[in-house]
Amino acid sequence: MREIISRIDKVVDSNSPILLIGETGTGKEIFAEYVHRTSNRSKNSFVKISLSALPADLLESELFGYERGSFTSAISQKKGLFEIADNGSIFLDDIDDVPMNIQKKLLRILESGELLKIGATEPIPINVRLITASKVELKELVNRKRFRADLFYRINGVPVRIPPLRQRSDDIPLLMEHFFKLFSSEKSIKVSNLALKKLIQYSWPGNVRELRNVIQRLSLFVEEEVMVDDLAPEIRNENVIENLIKACKNCYANGTNSFNDVVNCLEHKLIKEALEQSKGNKAQAAKILGLSPSTFRDKIKKLKIG
Ligand SMILES: Nc1ncnc2c1ncn2[C@@H]1O[C@H](COP(=O)(O)OP(=O)(O)O)[C@@H](O)[C@H]1O
Ligand SMILES: [Mg+2]
Repeated sequence: MREIISRIDKVVDSNSPILLIGETGTGKEIFAEYVHRTSNRSKNSFVKISLSALPADLLESELFGYERGSFTSAISQKKGLFEIADNGSIFLDDIDDVPMNIQKKLLRILESGELLKIGATEPIPINVRLITASKVELKELVNRKRFRADLFYRINGVPVRIPPLRQRSDDIPLLMEHFFKLFSSEKSIKVSNLALKKLIQYSWPGNVRELRNVIQRLSLFVEEEVMVDDLAPEIRNENVIENLIKACKNCYANGTNSFNDVVNCLEHKLIKEALEQSKGNKAQAAKILGLSPSTFRDKIKKLKIG
């Protein structure tokens, strides 16, 4: 995360567009706010909108605004978000969900630096810092013809990938401490070792947002120490194998790994986990996985484990 911050710090005062890529709940919006707040535009407005929340025609008038009389219900003129964000920053969340016709209009603004409101005849100059966020690798969508390549290159100025929480489990205790302070500053809640272990092992599909909610709930009813029994069943009785598969599925879906990488990664994780459970006893680890001792040995050799 420190690397990400220093990467952002280096470009924050340039006008390069920033593309934040990460699963839901990883903190994309927090980073978008950080970009604006630390930039030389911080005194001007910061506007954010999710491109998946509205139907296409509403989205169009929200983003670009319209002139009076441009369509029957347009009884007055309306400023669009691009105009409101002039001299500041605009954060377009869920850019991966944006409809094709809006993509075309976005591209026009970004290329010309001018906004043509719906029903207007004269474009107006617009100066905004663009920050976008995507849940998936946009390049994949470009390859599948669901996202315009020209728009992709425009917004991909500085791509910033925010890893899922399960890939930075060192952050979990720090974030927990932060959220306990936030939600129960009057109590001082400790976490038992076993409960902490479960919280760290959990795969956190909802990332930091999910962790925040879990700690908020615990803050309400735990007085002194969080025990394993206080945790929700999906965290407490984690099916380890299921989680590993989920984690590997995610790296495949994100398009960062090839099929072989994902299979190797899963094998690697399964074997590591089994060895941990058997405290390093290979015969027992093979048994846990239902493999013959010789197959197990071959796999260890192939994957260079231990
Ligand atoms: N590093 C962090 N420190 C504190 N809170 C965080 C952090 N990252 C995310 N959060 C919190 O987690 C929740 C989800 O973050 P958000 O930025 O909305 O994620 P995303 O936009 O990627 O879905 C928010 O409540 C946010 O405050
Ligand atoms: Mg978000």
